[in-house]
Amino acid sequence: MRILITAGPTVEFLDPVRFLSNRSSGKMGYCLATQALRLGHKVVLVSGPTALPKPVGCEFVAVQTAKEMLQTLQVHFPKCDVLMMAAAVADYRPQTVSKQKIKKTQTTLTLKLRRNPDLLKMMAAQKLKHQMLVGFAAETNQLLANAQKKLRVKKLDWIVLNDVSRSDIGFEGDNNEVVLISAQKVCHKIPKQSKKSVAQKILAIVLPDVRSK
Ligand code: CTP
Repeated sequence: MRILITAGPTVEFLDPVRFLSNRSSGKMGYCLATQALRLGHKVVLVSGPTALPKPVGCEFVAVQTAKEMLQTLQVHFPKCDVLMMAAAVADYRPQTVSKQKIKKTQTTLTLKLRRNPDLLKMMAAQKLKHQMLVGFAAETNQLLANAQKKLRVKKLDWIVLNDVSRSDIGFEGDNNEVVLISAQKVCHKIPKQSKKSVAQKILAIVLPDVRSK
């Protein structure tokens, strides 16, 4: 299968030296890419800035902004069987990007932000019948309700729920615990274990669904 995976944060520049971003090490997305490659799939990894080595054997596209990630998805999504959107896409970007470094003058500074497009929703709108969309939900409260809403609103096949309020899992760590929910309301809890092993289990659950589509 051709699997398109996004990982890491996007960064949204304010000026040449500053940006807004999301907390994300990229580890979960990179583990998914590595494990999908081990299973013999073709993998395109679209990554925001991370400190991780590129998984050997994938086609790697480095991006910075949500807009660049969208442009890359527009090229690669039509050719893929599965999109796994593990990236922490910034929801907003500064309305204007200063060409020069913004100098400090006042004691307070107000930033005007513009909403970024929802990349998953855009891909869902152009999805072909055989394609599968897997989204990720980073939640701190009302975990299941919020994840189920994203699954429905973004028209996904599966959503991977992450409880980002817990300090022992997620973000920069090597372990994770997730709940996978399908559009058909099938639910799988993957208890706390290494991100590598969580990635193997996610792929074992979702990929057979692609073949049966
Ligand atoms: N996502 C996306 N485009 C965005 C924001 C998020 O494609 N502009 C994707 C993420 O990659 C993830 C899913 O949507 O797979 C859910 O992301 P999350 O940050 O949990 O939720 P948001 O949609 O941003 O909603 P909110 O911030 O209100 O929780």
